[in-house]
Amino acid sequence: MKLLAILFLCSRLLTSFTQEDQPQEIDCNDEDVFKAVDAALKKHNDGSKSGNQFVLYRITEVTKTGDQEIFYSVKYEIKEGDCPVQSGKTWQDCDYKEAEQAATGACMATIEKIPNVEFSVATQTCNITSAKGPVVTSQYDCYGCLHPIRTVPPDFDPVLRHGIEHFNNHTGHSHLFALKEVKRAQRQVVSGWNYEVTYLIQQTSCSKENFKFLTRHCKALANGVTDECTDLAYVDPQLRIASFSQKCQILSGEDFTMGCPGCPIEIPANSPNLKDALTHSITNLNAENNATFYFKIDIVHRATSQVVAGMKYFIEFTARETTCSKESNKELTESCEINKHGEMLRCTADVYVVPWENKIESTVKCQSPGKKPLRPCMYKARPREAGAEPTSENMAS
Ligand SMILES: *[C@@H]1O[C@H](CO)[C@@H](O)[C@H](O)[C@H]1NC(C)=O
Ligand SMILES: *[C@@H]1O[C@H](CO)[C@@H](O)[C@H](O)[C@H]1NC(C)=O
Ligand SMILES: *[C@@H]1O[C@H](CO)[C@@H](O)[C@H](O)[C@H]1NC(C)=O
Repeated sequence: MKLLAILFLCSRLLTSFTQEDQPQEIDCNDEDVFKAVDAALKKHNDGSKSGNQFVLYRITEVTKTGDQEIFYSVKYEIKEGDCPVQSGKTWQDCDYKEAEQAATGACMATIEKIPNVEFSVATQTCNITSAKGPVVTSQYDCYGCLHPIRTVPPDFDPVLRHGIEHFNNHTGHSHLFALKEVKRAQRQVVSGWNYEVTYLIQQTSCSKENFKFLTRHCKALANGVTDECTDLAYVDPQLRIASFSQKCQILSGEDFTMGCPGCPIEIPANSPNLKDALTHSITNLNAENNATFYFKIDIVHRATSQVVAGMKYFIEFTARETTCSKESNKELTESCEINKHGEMLRCTADVYVVPWENKIESTVKCQSPGKKPLRPCMYKARPREAGAEPTSENMAS
């Protein structure tokens, strides 16, 4: 009976998808849809501490998104089965309970397909209507969790979510961290609940600058930093986190710049490491434009550095015309003042530095607000002579 119901609905779904011109057509004979719903329903059943398991009634909507990362958004309906949660059976082995006494439910879930591994439930909301009427809602969210929180009961989720958010709000790291693994979790009933949970949290590819919150695009960095955190939370009878404390320590992983050679990291605009790169950029800019006066760097807006074979900097800055003319000054010097009425340029520079080869190259692109962009230019410095002071040393901001 159950099997028939599922097959029937699948063929119906297929038709509706082709008609509605969905971005990706779902083939319901594709086992994946069923597996995704199976994972979601098991998640729901696992979250119940007592009562009967729920059994799939029908799948009403399926949307598949993504190419590399495949997500299924599903809506499905469930009915109370006749085997208890603790029976050890899976829902497929249960029958529906007598209709008049059975609770029913409607669930909405997002499930990620992790290739060759499993289906991981990212979010799920179920509205359960008991046979007597009242509606009970259960919710499961796994924001940014890289692995499903399978080892702990669902009521730990809000505490963990809070803990991860707290960590990301307060850490000095440039990148967001996501849950890696829960190690210990315990709960104590007081007037309300005390939770204590210890978990590993791992650096992701999402920089705080670009990502306010963890999303599924935030991938764990294999060599990134792993921290171990222990959170203590008191959840009051109204289910609010009334007090919270967190202790974390770095467990493993290289410093980010070492651990992720391919990843640019944000560095402070006034970082002393930028000195040579800035000097080079402004020299380059002055060499390549035909202005009568030298420009100097007024404000550094932001900068990133990236470990490659050497170091790569990306810098955004504003340059302003000075009162030093190229004709009467051999080069830009510290004493060259900004001409308040002079021209202003908004620039970006890509600078590549290989210290052990005395090599530095920069590409500077500037735009005069309201004017045509200047021609981008590539400038290659000659290696410094051993012992000689770089001529540009005393320039720049
Ligand atoms: C659950 O109920 C709420 C409020 O009635 C509704 O907005 C939501 O769509 C329902 N969810 C499901 C999965 O049916
Ligand atoms: C983290 O910061 C956001 C934005 O400032 C804030 O809304 C949120 O409550 C903070 N969360 C925690 C757990 O500190
Ligand atoms: C600067 O002048 C030279 C020669 O007059 C010319 O070839 C070059 O295109 C000019 N550069 C810019 C950025 O205008």
